[in-house]
Amino acid sequence: MEKFRISKERAFELLAKYGSPLYVYSEELIRKRCREMKGLLSRENFRVNYSAKANTNLEILKIIRDEGLYIDAMSPGELIIEEKAGFKPEEILYVSNNLSPEEMQFVIEKGILLSVDSLSQLELYGQLNPGGRVVVRFNTGIGAGHHQKVNTGGKKTKFAIQAEFIPQVKEILAKYRLRLAGINQHIGSLFLGVESYLASARRLFQLAKEFPGLDFVDLGGGFGIPYHPEEKRLDLVQLGQELEKAFEEFLAEYDNPDLILMVEPGRYIVAEAGNLLGKVYSVKENYGVKYIGTDLGFNVLMRPILYDSYHEVQVLKNPASKETSNKRERVNIVGNICESGDILAENRDLPLIEEGDIVAVMDVGAYGFVMSSNYNCRLRPAEVLIDAGGQDRLIRKRESYEDLLRHFPGL
Ligand SMILES: Cc1ncc(COP(=O)(O)O)c(C=O)c1O
Repeated sequence: MEKFRISKERAFELLAKYGSPLYVYSEELIRKRCREMKGLLSRENFRVNYSAKANTNLEILKIIRDEGLYIDAMSPGELIIEEKAGFKPEEILYVSNNLSPEEMQFVIEKGILLSVDSLSQLELYGQLNPGGRVVVRFNTGIGAGHHQKVNTGGKKTKFAIQAEFIPQVKEILAKYRLRLAGINQHIGSLFLGVESYLASARRLFQLAKEFPGLDFVDLGGGFGIPYHPEEKRLDLVQLGQELEKAFEEFLAEYDNPDLILMVEPGRYIVAEAGNLLGKVYSVKENYGVKYIGTDLGFNVLMRPILYDSYHEVQVLKNPASKETSNKRERVNIVGNICESGDILAENRDLPLIEEGDIVAVMDVGAYGFVMSSNYNCRLRPAEVLIDAGGQDRLIRKRESYEDLLRHFPGL
């Protein structure tokens, strides 16, 4: 299975059982992607940290841990869920960004290794934990990604410390007797060619030579998936082979032959394992444009409005429909949020859609549910897992109106 594609019968059955809209995940595909990523380099000193920001469902984290991946956290909330999923402090790397002293202290007290991404945060770390182990995130000048908003390397990003500041980094490390356990980077999210990642890896290896005795070098995530049918899959075999070569060359010149190479995939592990199901409630035409009205507003899936992202859509016909023609139509699939930008899929050529049909949105396992919101006071949807035996299981309850009212004092 390359992509999880829910069948029509199953989709109608699940919506009848759990309600709409609904996120549905395939355990089988999550496990497959974990294994592929672990096999990127076949050597002991290679480690995969799942970047939990892509999907933090507790049950999904348990599967990923069971597959032997380690994990990244980016907030105390992620840390807490990861601990609940069974991850030990030594299996977690906290990849931080502009932390308050309280948040940094929280991570330090948990005994979790932390990566800082500015000189001032390194200074703060030194004050809070003199003599401790720390990781520093560098920007080697190369960025990549599907959108400027997720390009996290190069000259136009708030992230990391540029290589020119290495002397200042060394000064702060010395001042607080800090031990630099590793260096990391993340050039951006969603690359499908291997070149930018490899080029940035070589630069980070070069930079690592400035710091003898590191335990690891962490190259970050960004491994893409083909959202559009015309996109080619990322060639993990080629990437693995070239990465292995670059790593070998680096190790030959480095003082720690056991140094661990780490990567931080998020999307690659979970994206294709998720489908989002919603119902069609209205069909209409406005000035020559056909609109398919669903319950899949951008409160449920934000990627299209945030990044202009493309998601493949499947139309699952209501078994009661009398429509038997093979007619196709050009339509906009829209949600139920009160904004004109609430468009899930624009100008799509699809089989005729009627009220009562189901729309299944593909590749939503990453940056799907985690970005959902209560905008318009709508409820976040439920999540269901199709387990390895093919059984469905609720792994997150749908929100309730009580949840909406919970935070008003005095109610
Ligand atoms: C520091 C860091 N590591 C890893 C990731 C995971 O990226 P992706 O889901 O594209 O693999 C991100 C996401 O932006 C990130 O910011």
